[in-house]
Amino acid sequence: MTAEPTTTGGAGAAPLLAVRDLTMAFPGRRGRTGGRGAPVRAVDGISFDLAAGETLGLVGESGCGKSTTGRMLVRLLEPTSGSVTFDGRDITRLSQGALRPLRRHLQMVFQDPHSSLNPRQTVARIISDPLLVQGWSAGDARRRAAELMELVGLIPEHIDRYPHEFSGGQAQRIGIARSLATSPRLIVADEPVSALDVSVQAQIVNLMERLRRELGLAYVFIAHDLSVVKRVSDRVAVMYLGRIVEIGDKKSLYDDPRHPYTRALLSAVPLPDPAAERRRERITLLGDPPSPAAPPPGCTFHPRCPKAQEVCRTERPLLRIADPGATREVACHFPGD
Ligand SMILES: Nc1ncnc2c1ncn2[C@@H]1O[C@H](COP(=O)(O)OP(=O)(O)OP(=O)(O)O)[C@@H](O)[C@H]1O
Ligand code: SF4
Ligand SMILES: [Mg+2]
Repeated sequence: MTAEPTTTGGAGAAPLLAVRDLTMAFPGRRGRTGGRGAPVRAVDGISFDLAAGETLGLVGESGCGKSTTGRMLVRLLEPTSGSVTFDGRDITRLSQGALRPLRRHLQMVFQDPHSSLNPRQTVARIISDPLLVQGWSAGDARRRAAELMELVGLIPEHIDRYPHEFSGGQAQRIGIARSLATSPRLIVADEPVSALDVSVQAQIVNLMERLRRELGLAYVFIAHDLSVVKRVSDRVAVMYLGRIVEIGDKKSLYDDPRHPYTRALLSAVPLPDPAAERRRERITLLGDPPSPAAPPPGCTFHPRCPKAQEVCRTERPLLRIADPGATREVACHFPGD
């Protein structure tokens, strides 16, 4: 069954990105006898829309499928099933040749800036590469690279330096400049600040916000830090074991989380107001997330859920609207109880 998302941000406009039942099942590991274990359903049927210029935050514990989702959105990974429609065009099964003209609109920023930049290439080369692939002349690409350096707060005169000559924050600016080279409409940022010092994180988040406003970019912003996601997102999707368990408008989701997993995640975030911080009750989850190779039946969160009841062990809850304003969808038999 194809889930049609209802909490779209685009207020009736056709979405920039429409994701339907997206699934990635990696082949199971080979055992000692040569046979394969069960496939790992890293992403298990997720659906959402993203409007032009909008930011969707994607959160969840390590291993829940955030990076796999991000990589499928920009076709760095081929999904097992489901579809990704970009600007009205289904890009899920386009050949690499047919995808090439669209690639410029879909870019990615990675977590570790230094390891995602080729240490043997100068900044000029790193930023111009996507342009050269698109057929730009070397001179034009270099000029554009210098402009982009300025746009992201780097000194254009440093264009012939190598990545190791830059700090972590500066290197991430290079990664962002590279992602902007082809004037994309969507950037998937996979933990873009989590490898950086806390003091630098805010600068990069501010930069990304400014670029979004100035260039009209849409972001899928992946992060495990819920305070960062709160700052940058219009809407937030919470993932657990390859599925979206809650998605909706940022403010309503943070003010009144409905899924027990979202509540637990948010209860771990320190509050800026000292009085509220003293009253904060932490919800401790039992155990670790189960393996996506052997997900529990019914609601996959039930072994850890403080609210689990009998039906949760057998029936999978589907994502459905959980508030009168239709700003939120929740996959829980007892949302908000
Ligand atoms: N190439 C692969 N082959 C097999 N399993 C994989 C592969 N890539 C990811 N996985 C598995 O898929 C699941 C989701 O991984 P993914 O990297 O998408 O999670 P994540 O939410 O990004 O985690 P993190 O917060 O640690 O970055 C994990 O169980 C992971 O072990
Ligand atoms: S469906 Fe049941 S187990 Fe799953 S989150 Fe809701 S209450 Fe918890
Ligand atoms: Mg990841």
